[in-house]
Amino acid sequence: MKTPYTATAKALHWGIAVLIFGLLGLGFYMTGLSLSPTKLQLYSWHKWVGITVFALVVVRLAWRLTHRPPALPSHMSPIERLAAHAGHHLLYLLMFAIPLSGWLMSSAKGFQTVWFGVLPLPDLLAKDKALGDLLQTVHMALNFLLIAVLLGHIGAALKHHFFDQDDVLTRMLRRRPV
Ligand code: HEM
Ligand code: HEM
Repeated sequence: MKTPYTATAKALHWGIAVLIFGLLGLGFYMTGLSLSPTKLQLYSWHKWVGITVFALVVVRLAWRLTHRPPALPSHMSPIERLAAHAGHHLLYLLMFAIPLSGWLMSSAKGFQTVWFGVLPLPDLLAKDKALGDLLQTVHMALNFLLIAVLLGHIGAALKHHFFDQDDVLTRMLRRRPV
């Protein structure tokens, strides 16, 4: 049996994935609401969970830079390897850039983030409406890019499992052999 990902890598992958799917759904839902206390409450939750993802991604990047993932299956062509590596790099970049753009946007719009209502985070930018609007567009565009890359990522995982019948999906799911 080949070596699966470590328990830490799997926990970070699936934990962050669940939070990101929740943030995507919440983000589109809350922006469609008309102004109300509920909308403002949902914005706060979105920001708190988004900052949590940002912190987890920093931990994940530190982990990934110090731990090698299992090698890709030998049947993959050079183009497929390139696509897999490029896709993973892009996902790491987006996981970092999206929450950062949200934090920068909130700062520029003059809405400080108080993490879970207890920890006030510093504003990264001075208040600037035009910049805030630009960052709002950047946040949205990066989210659409993330969704496109994720469709490819999930499609690739399913192709590996059902067509190539290799261990790429199972090594991200199953327990490490003892
Ligand atoms: C991985 C983390 C995050 C994901 C996947 C995410 C996703 C989204 C999505 C899908 C939307 C709706 C589309 C849009 O207007 O952009 C949204 C809106 C928003 N996000 Fe995030 N977000 C994340 C992190 C953050 C963080 C950390 C903050 C601030 C601290 C933040 C602040 C906002 C705000 C204020 C809006 C509403 C913008 C508006 O009124 O149009 N987000 N987010
Ligand atoms: C927000 C959602 C997700 C993000 C941000 C994400 C991100 C990533 C990243 C960056 C890697 C590379 C790990 C490494 O450094 O080796 C990875 C690996 C992987 N992901 Fe995801 N992922 C997400 C959701 C999913 C889902 C829903 C599936 C299943 C259908 C999946 C299946 C996999 C598999 C099988 C691997 C291992 C690839 C390999 O062995 O080379 N991911 N993911």
